[in-house]
Amino acid sequence: MTTGFVGLLEAIRSARTRTDSLFELLAEEALYSRPVAERHRLVFYLGHMEAFDWNLLWRSTLGRDPFHPEFDQLFAFGIDLEIGKAPFDQPLDWPSLQEIRHYCGEVRSRLDEALHEFPEQRVHVAIEHRLMHAETFAYLLNRLDAPRSFVEYESGPVLPQSVEIPAGTATLGQTPGEFGWDNEFSRHSVDVPAFSVSKYKVTNGDYLKYVADGAAAPAFWSRIGDRWWLRGMFDWISLPLDWPVYTTWDEANAYAKWAGKDLMTEPQYHRALDSSEPRTSGNFDFRSWDPCPVTRDDLPGASQLAGNGWEWTSTVFAPFEGFEAFSFYPGYSANFFDGKHYVMKGASSRTAACFLRPSFRNWFRPNYPHVYASCRLVEN
Ligand SMILES: [Fe+2]
Repeated sequence: MTTGFVGLLEAIRSARTRTDSLFELLAEEALYSRPVAERHRLVFYLGHMEAFDWNLLWRSTLGRDPFHPEFDQLFAFGIDLEIGKAPFDQPLDWPSLQEIRHYCGEVRSRLDEALHEFPEQRVHVAIEHRLMHAETFAYLLNRLDAPRSFVEYESGPVLPQSVEIPAGTATLGQTPGEFGWDNEFSRHSVDVPAFSVSKYKVTNGDYLKYVADGAAAPAFWSRIGDRWWLRGMFDWISLPLDWPVYTTWDEANAYAKWAGKDLMTEPQYHRALDSSEPRTSGNFDFRSWDPCPVTRDDLPGASQLAGNGWEWTSTVFAPFEGFEAFSFYPGYSANFFDGKHYVMKGASSRTAACFLRPSFRNWFRPNYPHVYASCRLVEN
């Protein structure tokens, strides 16, 4: 876990540059908008990343007096409301950009001066928390009603292939002593029977057949004129048949059943990962705004298990045996052990490289439609 003080300072500054660049894309009016009903207005996130760091490091570690307790509380936590439930606040209920930016600047300078006083684990938590938001903020930007041009994309269907995974042991969880979030512990083994997994993620072309059979289109698709278009970050793209389809868990699970198959379990994901080529490159770590063809990194084994879209699993998000919540952030995982969230593995194009460690677990509600998540099918 050790990266040293200089390495940590560089890492936290690099993460700040990443999130700053997202806010720079937005005009003031857009910052006060709420592109996803069940989440805060975008301006919340401008203050949230600093308030989180401040509360985690300065207030709970050093116990010194805050300089702006009102903002520390206002920007402390995001929300994960059930679909259809939205907060009622108005843009004028939020502070001005000038006030928030002043708060952020003050937090950064105070924290950087004291960084050597903080436990390394907590600084890692601050860095990864910010990088998680660099991705989830992109989901929100994707829903903005900004003008988009129409881009023609030439693509053909991807021929399905499957990969046989022999029976074996999957190892889940992070190595003791290495950094991981609370839900990554304890490390343990699971015996997994042999199964067959699709080589490629389910594509838009695959899902189109399901839609033609009567299923609803995913949230990223729109019918404009007599054609399907994909809502890219900046463009409407004529439906790329060879890109992974982004769906909710409910949609992915229903598609798997329609195809007579299942989603991977979390241990099956690990077995497939262990049986594929190591991940040295791919569509992750902010390499692009949108997905790429599922066939691009055509290596032996299941392809793109990490990158180009998270993979929904059939596993309900729950603690591993030996789980202990972080004392300084008790709700990070435990608040979501409610049987209403499912584990996602892998990474999307907007996932920072640090989350490619196999033990990292992501999770969302089964009907949250804005996640960069696809799936692949298994036969048991
Ligand atoms: Fe957060």
